[in-house]
Amino acid sequence: MPGFTEKQTFNIQEDQKDDEIHLSQNKVIMIGALIAAIITGVGLICFYVPDRSCGDDIIVVPTSDPQKGKTTPRATTEGSESTTPTASPSGPWPGRLTTAVMPESYELFLKPYIYDDDVPSGKARFTFDGNVTIRVRCYNATNRITLHAVDINITTITVFMMGDTDDMYQGLTEEKEYEFIHIELNDELVVDGVYDIKIDYLGQLNDGLSGFYRTSYTTDDETIVWGATSQMQPTSARKALPCFDEPAFRAVFNTTIVHRSYMAAITNGIEIDEEDLADEWTRTTYLPTPKMPTYLLAFTVGTFDYTENITANGVRFRAWSRPEAVNNTRYALETGSEIITYFEDYFGIPFPLEKQDMIAVPDFAAGAMENWGLIIYRETAMLYDPEVNSASNKQYVAVVVSHELAHQWFGNLVTPKWWDDLWLNEGFASYVEYLGVDFTEPTWGMKEQFVINDLEPVFELDSLGTSHPVRVDVGAPAEINEIFDSISYNKGGSILRMLNNILTEEVFTRGLTAYLKEHAYGNADSDDLWSALTEADKDDGGLDVKAIMDTWTLQMGYPLVTLERTDRKTVTAHQEHYLSNPSEGVSQEYGDQGYLWQVYIQYTDKTTNNFIMPNSAWMEKDRSIEFELADTVDENDWYMVNTYQYGFYRVNYDHENWMRLTDQLMTDHKVFPNENRAQLIDDAFSLARTGNISMETALNLTRYLGNEKDLLPWEATLDYMSYITNMFRLSGGFGPLELYMQALVEPLYDSLGWNDTDEVLEQYNRNNAIRVACYYRVTDCLDQASKLYQDYMQNPDNNPISNNLKTTVYCNGIRDGGQTEWEFGWNKYLSSSDSSEKSKWLSALGCSRQPWILNRYLMYTVAEDTQVRSQDVSSVLSAVGNNHVGIDLVWDFLRNDYDKIYDLFATSIFTFSSIISAVPQNFNTEQLLEEWIAFGEGRDFGPATRTYEQGTETIKINIQWMEKYEDSITEWLMRAL
Ligand SMILES: *[C@@H]1O[C@H](CO)[C@@H](O)[C@H](O)[C@H]1NC(C)=O
Ligand SMILES: *[C@@H]1O[C@H](CO)[C@@H](O)[C@H](O)[C@H]1NC(C)=O
Ligand SMILES: *[C@@H]1O[C@H](CO)[C@@H](O)[C@H](O)[C@H]1NC(C)=O
Repeated sequence: MPGFTEKQTFNIQEDQKDDEIHLSQNKVIMIGALIAAIITGVGLICFYVPDRSCGDDIIVVPTSDPQKGKTTPRATTEGSESTTPTASPSGPWPGRLTTAVMPESYELFLKPYIYDDDVPSGKARFTFDGNVTIRVRCYNATNRITLHAVDINITTITVFMMGDTDDMYQGLTEEKEYEFIHIELNDELVVDGVYDIKIDYLGQLNDGLSGFYRTSYTTDDETIVWGATSQMQPTSARKALPCFDEPAFRAVFNTTIVHRSYMAAITNGIEIDEEDLADEWTRTTYLPTPKMPTYLLAFTVGTFDYTENITANGVRFRAWSRPEAVNNTRYALETGSEIITYFEDYFGIPFPLEKQDMIAVPDFAAGAMENWGLIIYRETAMLYDPEVNSASNKQYVAVVVSHELAHQWFGNLVTPKWWDDLWLNEGFASYVEYLGVDFTEPTWGMKEQFVINDLEPVFELDSLGTSHPVRVDVGAPAEINEIFDSISYNKGGSILRMLNNILTEEVFTRGLTAYLKEHAYGNADSDDLWSALTEADKDDGGLDVKAIMDTWTLQMGYPLVTLERTDRKTVTAHQEHYLSNPSEGVSQEYGDQGYLWQVYIQYTDKTTNNFIMPNSAWMEKDRSIEFELADTVDENDWYMVNTYQYGFYRVNYDHENWMRLTDQLMTDHKVFPNENRAQLIDDAFSLARTGNISMETALNLTRYLGNEKDLLPWEATLDYMSYITNMFRLSGGFGPLELYMQALVEPLYDSLGWNDTDEVLEQYNRNNAIRVACYYRVTDCLDQASKLYQDYMQNPDNNPISNNLKTTVYCNGIRDGGQTEWEFGWNKYLSSSDSSEKSKWLSALGCSRQPWILNRYLMYTVAEDTQVRSQDVSSVLSAVGNNHVGIDLVWDFLRNDYDKIYDLFATSIFTFSSIISAVPQNFNTEQLLEEWIAFGEGRDFGPATRTYEQGTETIKINIQWMEKYEDSITEWLMRAL
């Protein structure tokens, strides 16, 4: 699943993520599950019903990476790795299935009772009847069959050997901690014997957004319409049926759904028969699936409509939604049908099913889930209304669709053997989703956006001693859920992009096709991919792909490559594990290769000036190497390493070279590709915070931005400026900062104006320019924004604001307005039926500067009759918490209403963690640290214990940062003005 999160980019702005940045930074999406704790900004999802039954198991969706707050300057200047382990990998998990008995097929019947009049006596509404016949083969004699089941009530079990009539069933025992049921038999199964296990059971359509669960929407005439849908990944298929719920236990699924005749019922396979039963019920049967893992099963039953296309190669492609939104499925349908054809060509393998359905459901924990043949999305990830939504909403849809379609091959056709290779699935899809969208939307600059959306954002988290390798041992469901994080998605994608560059496109895709063909309908691990790629490279580079990639996948973190020019032509490169806070130590187990990497260094210099075909050198786990610049180079010329930022490492130079690069930016910045200008800024600010270079060197790089008209370097800059801004909220340095930022952004603001009708990249750039200009109070911007908001209030049926600029204008209208402006926004939030539009309002409503309004807004989230879906509560907290007026209010809210918040949200680790992590992000005083510690004393944070502790670390880091940099940055700013 995608773990999608929309990027929270400029978090100084109290606005909402979604417009801001183009999207996603992490794409997404994931699953029903959860997202790792690492993601912040989360939204949890549960049902928004009149009685707000948001009970168990709420799932969260990440909307941004909390760790990415750029808040971790290191405390000391030591570069050495400390030996304090701070995380320990799990031991072997005893809850794994054995291979004594393996499934071959499932015959599955489901009958959900969605309305009162569906329910026969003795049953309850929102339950379902299920029965399943699992055909298994015995590989080792045993008198017990173990499978998974959780939260379902089993009524009868029989076990027959094929062709035999003696029921072998003797009894059932449960082992709850492993979610196992053990079927005890009165005789041994014989090796190679084939048996049918038949189980009847009852299930609940739960509110937890996992397994088979209920969802609802409200129509324009205020009717509540219910449906049932599913989310299995990673370990929830066992909530919908008893099954062998591990990814390597592939089997064929023959599904039958009995449903109300007026409802649609869709699942993985194409429908092959519909039979009308008595009382307006229909029984639909579907084509058996290919052999596949349980986590890819999916069913949706309810009142939904679709649009349809046939792809170039004849696949029936449908995009479903609630009927009132069905026109907004068209973009996903059209772009999806082209991307699926593109991937058939890219992977060299035709799409293996007869049809592909995609559906947007109102309640969905992740961004989307790649179930084979039935991809399920949250509405904002699939629906796009050109009349209302922004370009970044559209890009988010395209990216999530592309991500999920890539999984139909990479993940579904070939599946990881176990969840420790989840990164391979998600990293791969996080990378090739860009290729798919680049194919359908060539003007969006997708390939360069990768750098700001995926690569740079994960550097921060991965420089912590508490990071983890992309490939990590996991066992228990909670551990599995935890790795749906930005390390798996963003870093996984980044190192695959790096590998693609090393091998070349031709070799990379050839190896990929070979890997998919060899393991089709089966399971594989990273080593299998490495050997296919090594084989593909045999006649080209002859590289040992496993030796290279093990250094990137088995140890956490990444190198800092420090360069020094020893004479005109000679440069030495030195690598070390880059840590943002080395005094906090690292986990020893995660340095399998001694914290040395195989680094492919690509470089150019002023005279060669060739970024397309750069020079190169290898560091093969060498601590240091030497390489030569071109013969033509003059000793005063700059050189640059990591062209296009293909490599997953940071670069530091000798002081003279930093100066020369800075001069080049001032004279003609276009000499460097967009990616490299963003990289210079991103590396420099990070290195300044860790004390490797001076803050002045980093700040000097920003001086050229008055000439910069491209999105990428601005994004990189704003990321860091937002941290400085948040730290300076109570500092005398805020004044000079505001003036400096005004001066920096004004040329961009003036040149782009407010007329928002050009290309997407310009639109994103304009959105940044206007957001920043208004945030730092450029008068013209404030006037324009306020006028637009007032115009809208005068004429509420006719929104005059460009879709791309809504987030900014709404926020400013509310920030500079009072009660009337806030109420207008709240009513628009309530009356809009468009999920993206609603979420823009939700974040803008946190921009008010009236403490009582903000406080009331926070209270709305926990009210009995709340109008805020649980999935959105943490967005409200982030919006208010990033507002400098709101930060104390959020803190009081958390302290005073902790019990209520705990009761409502602590059942979901991700939701609750994101709430706990949102609060202390900008705390930077001793007093707040004391309060935070006092708050924690003797308190149970349940699943967010570690998040609470990380909060403590964040505050300490912020305090140190203030001590170290407040004065010097302020002085620099005053000099720069
Ligand atoms: C089968 O049983 C043998 C002997 O008890 C054991 O060594 C082996 O690991 C078992 N294999 C499986 C697949 O369970
Ligand atoms: C399974 O349940 C379905 C739906 O309730 C029913 O029609 C079917 O007969 C059952 N099958 C078996 C084998 O019990
Ligand atoms: C399953 O059994 C429990 C305990 O008896 C009961 O509370 C629950 O309602 C049952 N669920 C269904 C779907 O029948």
